[in-house]
Amino acid sequence: MRGTPVWWYTYAPAIKTLLIQYNFTNKTVYPFITNGGWIQHTERDVLNNCRNAVVRKAINIKFDGDRLALSNKEIENWIRSLL
Ligand SMILES: Cc1cc2nc3c(=O)[nH]c(=O)nc-3n(C[C@H](O)[C@H](O)[C@H](O)COP(=O)(O)O)c2cc1C
Repeated sequence: MRGTPVWWYTYAPAIKTLLIQYNFTNKTVYPFITNGGWIQHTERDVLNNCRNAVVRKAINIKFDGDRLALSNKEIENWIRSLL
């Protein structure tokens, strides 16, 4: 499981450092992407930078200010879709 906030339409710099340095051979990445509604190319950037990983469908975890904009049910459905 790998998570990142969206910062300026992509993953946060600390996540970039992790993805570039890490070799994901034999690993599966389940990306969760927290954001304020402008996710843009974040999912593609994660996909392109997890070297040798299997990358599963990301979940877009949107916040309206401090409030989670999607339901627990939607998060549960994403988790179930990964099983
Ligand atoms: C420097 C900075 C840049 C951000 N850029 C974006 C952005 O491009 N798109 C977006 O949807 N949210 C953006 N956000 C909002 C964050 O994604 C959101 O606050 C975060 O995912 C929620 O987690 P937090 O509790 O760590 O803030 C930005 C936040 C910060 C601090």
